[in-house]
Amino acid sequence: MGGKMKIFIDTANLDEIKEMSEMGILDGVTTNPTLLAREVERTGLKPNDILLKICEMVKGPISAEVLALDAEGMINEARELSKLHENICIKIPMTEEGIKAVKVLEQEGIRTNVTLVFSVNQALFALKAGASFVSPFIGRLDDRGHYGMDLVSEILRVIDNYGFKTEVIVASVRHPVHVKEAMLLGAHICTIPYKVLKLLFKHPLTDDGIKRFMEDWDKAKKIFEK
Ligand code: E4P
Repeated sequence: MGGKMKIFIDTANLDEIKEMSEMGILDGVTTNPTLLAREVERTGLKPNDILLKICEMVKGPISAEVLALDAEGMINEARELSKLHENICIKIPMTEEGIKAVKVLEQEGIRTNVTLVFSVNQALFALKAGASFVSPFIGRLDDRGHYGMDLVSEILRVIDNYGFKTEVIVASVRHPVHVKEAMLLGAHICTIPYKVLKLLFKHPLTDDGIKRFMEDWDKAKKIFEK
């Protein structure tokens, strides 16, 4: 497949995005109406102002979701949202109306991210419509007793079989094992909640190792600083 795996953060929380972007590990951001609503409540800011602040912090695709359910409404909303910033990418739900909208928007040069994808058959329509991104929701599939990561593997195989240009965003990530499996499958992007990102840095053996080095150095210092 080639290329490097990209890390997006799955949140609209400006503090979380700031912290992670300052670390230089972010390639993009995904928001959804739930995440944006949560940030509106937390900060009192307007949704578009939050999106703009995110665009200023992270130089990469920033997904903002439409709320209309008909193609025309989605297209109109998408055109308005895309005026906010060149990095805004439009999240479109995986419906018949959504696929119609994706086709039109991609032809206009507006990037789309087909969201709420739960089967490879659904993904096929997103790929054929020319979506820039497709987002299989792994955690929500796991919640229903499926093995969500199988879907990522199937979509990647279809992309490879036919040479589609769409990138897979592994979404609805709940824990570090999801991230590890996404990497091993060669997914293009994994969108990761803040809490999971924090967990990825950690290993108890790293902490133990640092503690032991410090203790040993302190012992030696008592000798060489005499
Ligand atoms: C992705 O784009 C969605 O915002 C997100 O991953 C949904 O995750 P959830 O199933 O944990 O709500």
